[in-house]
Amino acid sequence: MIATSIPSPRRFYVETWGCQMNELDSQRMTGQLMQQGILPTREPKEADIILLNSCSVREKAAQKAYSRLGEYRLLKRDRPHLMIGFCGCVAQQEGEKAIRRVDDLDFVVGPGRVGELAEIVQRRRVSGKPIVATGFPDATTRNYELDTLSREGTFKGMVTIIEGCNKKCTFCIVPSTRGPEQSRPLGDILSEVQHLLDYGFVEIELLGQTVNHWQDPETGADFAVLLDKVARMGMRRLRFVTSYPRDFSQAMVDQFARHENISPYLHLPVQSGSNRILKLMGRGYEIEPYRDLIRRIRQARPGIALSTDLIVGFPGETEEDFQATYDLVKELRFAQIFAFKYSPRPGTAAPRLKLDEVEPKAADRRLQDLFALQGQIQQELNQDLVGETFEVLVTQWGKRAGTQTGRTPCHRLIHFEYGDAAVELGSLIQLEVEKGLPHSLIGRRVA
Ligand code: SAH
Ligand code: F3S
Repeated sequence: MIATSIPSPRRFYVETWGCQMNELDSQRMTGQLMQQGILPTREPKEADIILLNSCSVREKAAQKAYSRLGEYRLLKRDRPHLMIGFCGCVAQQEGEKAIRRVDDLDFVVGPGRVGELAEIVQRRRVSGKPIVATGFPDATTRNYELDTLSREGTFKGMVTIIEGCNKKCTFCIVPSTRGPEQSRPLGDILSEVQHLLDYGFVEIELLGQTVNHWQDPETGADFAVLLDKVARMGMRRLRFVTSYPRDFSQAMVDQFARHENISPYLHLPVQSGSNRILKLMGRGYEIEPYRDLIRRIRQARPGIALSTDLIVGFPGETEEDFQATYDLVKELRFAQIFAFKYSPRPGTAAPRLKLDEVEPKAADRRLQDLFALQGQIQQELNQDLVGETFEVLVTQWGKRAGTQTGRTPCHRLIHFEYGDAAVELGSLIQLEVEKGLPHSLIGRRVA
């Protein structure tokens, strides 16, 4: 008999940082462990396995991850059999280095190896040696464990359609942490969506770093074809993230007009309003076509809520470049913006361009200016919705007693008082907007 050096783990704890793909990876890992009879806990102190699913996109990512691992290590004093796993994009980036740096780390698992988690845990228990599983196996050996995925809640089902990224935006670390682009076959995607619908999921969200660059590896069908086919399957809400502006064809725009169940919400990262900066970022598009795309989308689906990502303080960004970003935000009136201060990432091209760094103070001010402008725009947009009635998907309990929170089809947060009886989470109800705040709406129930 093989002597196992670590007794059977009973509980695990997962901490997730970053994007929806990380969220989904955590659900995949959760499912695998649950299938082994290991149960989730909300309390790291009670766990026999702790997984840190890290994100490396911005600011001091590695430092933050190591400091959290350091905190978790201390728990080993009281729980000598605790296993700590370092997962996600920082883990991919650090690999062996992480084992050398954190001496009692048990395993390192990159995003390309998530499907092997259960096996890695077993191997670690038996071998007593730390394990490093990073890199990107090709599609044929990649393990995609549909049946063991533990979906969070029962109303929003996320489906990866394309993994990795082949673009080379000069600021971005994702292509090196998530590997080359790989589209899943159409048939696999449709059967996963059907599976979720059979389970009663209300909302389907298709995921990819450049989700609209998906192409069926067998037939070459593109994302417009996929959207059409998926929307026809009849879910209440279909969403997808993240779209790449240059790859957003008119055929894709047309789907917004064709299918009402495609949610009137689109995230379309522009990054900057200056053509000069876009060029330095290697984004491969200019502002004029972006503006035109937004115009066509709004024509196809009036009232659609658009959101975007912006980076301020990219090397070489002048006041004039920033002004162009500011003016674009003012003009396009996004429902939401995600604005970040540029931070150099290891191995990316931008630091090698030898451009002048923007003073941190100037970058901070630019960021604050954008937030102030956007706050005002959101307040106005949300106020304009007062009196309108929306079908709302109730997703959570409110912070205040007697309240619940949901999402409109355009993905705005809406709070309401439920009165005599609370609404079952995952239900769809009608709410009339009573008040518009900068970051949410207040609604009341209507029949
Ligand atoms: N696939 C997505 C990007 C993923 S990263 C896309 O094409 O938009 C998410 C966002 O983080 C990016 O859109 C960008 O705005 C921001 N970001 C990425 N790298 C960054 C960096 N080095 N500094 C600051 N923000 C960054
Ligand atoms: Fe990053 Fe650009 Fe791809 S932002 S994820 S390299 S599209």
